[in-house]
Amino acid sequence: MPNQLGITPIYDSIRIDLIKNAMKLVFATNNKNKLKEVQAMLPQTIELVSLSDIGCYEDIPETASTIEGNAIQKANYIRKHYQYDCFADDTGLEVEILNGAPGVYSARYAGDAKNADANMDKLIQNLQGKENRNAQFKTVIALIINGETKTFTGICSGHITKEKRGTKGFGYDPIFVPNTYTQTFAEISLETKNKISHRSRAVQKLKAYLSNFS
Ligand code: IMP
Repeated sequence: MPNQLGITPIYDSIRIDLIKNAMKLVFATNNKNKLKEVQAMLPQTIELVSLSDIGCYEDIPETASTIEGNAIQKANYIRKHYQYDCFADDTGLEVEILNGAPGVYSARYAGDAKNADANMDKLIQNLQGKENRNAQFKTVIALIINGETKTFTGICSGHITKEKRGTKGFGYDPIFVPNTYTQTFAEISLETKNKISHRSRAVQKLKAYLSNFS
């Protein structure tokens, strides 16, 4: 329903679109690549709306001590301050012999500069001489819809290499080899990565859940 300014808020239009069998949903990110990647994994009946689309330009707090906690914190923030149904994601790389580190601190492992090369160098250094190099990427998506919060977890297991290999991807991709592969995430095509990645596994679960609403 139009508000005093004559504008139909997105929240109302979500309900209207639901009637037409389409759904607009806020994805709490301003990362255009991530938005595109996740949109491509969802059916056309779900249209993702970014943070800038709803006028949210501030840094959303991510101060929880777990990956799941951060995803929920971000989704709650949008629901509370902007009143939209939404989902948020958070990802970390968990290394078995380091008791799950860097985990929730993956982006800042080597400092606040969030430098991917420095993060990888630190991890390679901390694993020097270690036999067990098992690791997993974990993505948690927190969805708030109709007043309910749901979480969806995607895991991609593999191991950490002794040196960086490949130029594709981002973050820890050059030192992570997924199970049953010999190449790192930075050596395989983005198409293949998107089929097996932690993020796509979490998004598939989100997609299955959202199909209940269409
Ligand atoms: P975010 O929660 O998606 O921002 O991810 C946090 C950090 O995890 C990033 O800054 C990267 O260092 C790392 N990361 C997340 N996803 C990936 C991935 O697919 N490949 C490599 N590193 C990733």
